[in-house]
Amino acid sequence: MAVLRIPDTGETITGDAEIRAALAGAGIDYERWSLDRVPAECSADDVLRAYAGEIDEMKQRGGYVTADVIDVTPETPNLEAMLAHFDKEHTHSEDEVRFILAGRGIFFLHIGARVYSVEVGPGDMLRVPRGTTHWFTLCEDRRIRAIRWFQDTTGWTPHYTGSGVDRGYQPLCFGPAYLGPRVATGISVDRNP
Ligand SMILES: [Fe+2]
Repeated sequence: MAVLRIPDTGETITGDAEIRAALAGAGIDYERWSLDRVPAECSADDVLRAYAGEIDEMKQRGGYVTADVIDVTPETPNLEAMLAHFDKEHTHSEDEVRFILAGRGIFFLHIGARVYSVEVGPGDMLRVPRGTTHWFTLCEDRRIRAIRWFQDTTGWTPHYTGSGVDRGYQPLCFGPAYLGPRVATGISVDRNP
């Protein structure tokens, strides 16, 4: 489940419908999809077969021509160098569409004068329209597995804005158990059994 934050105001939004509504107002599609099609450990081909219906539907919605599965672990060669391509504010000439199967990461979306931090996890589908200024980072466990859609794979080159806006925001992941600000401040009910 995602956690939506607006760091400049300190606002945090949780709940599928609330996040969906808040992001829709900014032109971003957010949906929750079922994860029960495939076991956690299965091949990319198994994933593509299991989600063939959703993949085709999304292709029709957005004019995408291909989909694949990206799998990143802490052991991925040159991981930090790869992440460095995407953790600075950029745009793409095509949509960035991801359905998260495993792991967690943060999309920072810079829309108008506002920066949204969208922490995504398993079951979250996010569609960021082409031209949206954004950047992305993984959470501390350096793990993500996701289905990606492409209109044209050559269009996924980042175009950096060079604004430096990304340097003003901490890649703070709250994790899937986030329930509200009490957890974020470390005052967890677990301390008072
Ligand atoms: Fe991107």
